[in-house]
Amino acid sequence: MGEQEQRSQGPITRFLAEDHRRLDGLLQSAVADIDQVDHAAYDRFRAGLLRHIGMEEKILLPAAQRWHGGKPLPVAAKLRLDHGAIACLLMPTPTAAIIAMLRGILADHNELEEGLDGLYETCDVLAAAETEPIVARLEAAPEVQVMPYSDTTTVINTVCRAVERAGYHFKK
Ligand SMILES: [Fe+2]
Ligand SMILES: [Fe+2]
Repeated sequence: MGEQEQRSQGPITRFLAEDHRRLDGLLQSAVADIDQVDHAAYDRFRAGLLRHIGMEEKILLPAAQRWHGGKPLPVAAKLRLDHGAIACLLMPTPTAAIIAMLRGILADHNELEEGLDGLYETCDVLAAAETEPIVARLEAAPEVQVMPYSDTTTVINTVCRAVERAGYHFKK
């Protein structure tokens, strides 16, 4: 992060990277003791992360495609696969295995977004005069309601498939 902090960050990077930090903090407080998960905090984390993914999927990636001459950014397909895996991992009861997988994917994923030449910096450059309106739209993104946990075989199989599609391997 040291190198990143020395670069001047654009408004899109600042806003979404700050949301990553806030979500990391919520996750940390929810599962500080995995044997006694704070489910209210975990629900806030789930709702916040799903809202964050919605901002990227519904607002930022479509805008980036528009700014990029109508073609998706090269990183977009991988980010969307990660989002699918992350959203699936939020469905079951959080176990140590689920949380470890979630943290592993989020660490790689956030780096693709926040890192040097990542999604956010690319968007700050491409957005030009549209930067402020886009940040305003991100800020106005709707809240998300979370569903109760589901641990059926179908859900667990869906989680595994989504994780593998994104290039990871989930150990049950
Ligand atoms: Fe993302
Ligand atoms: Fe993100």
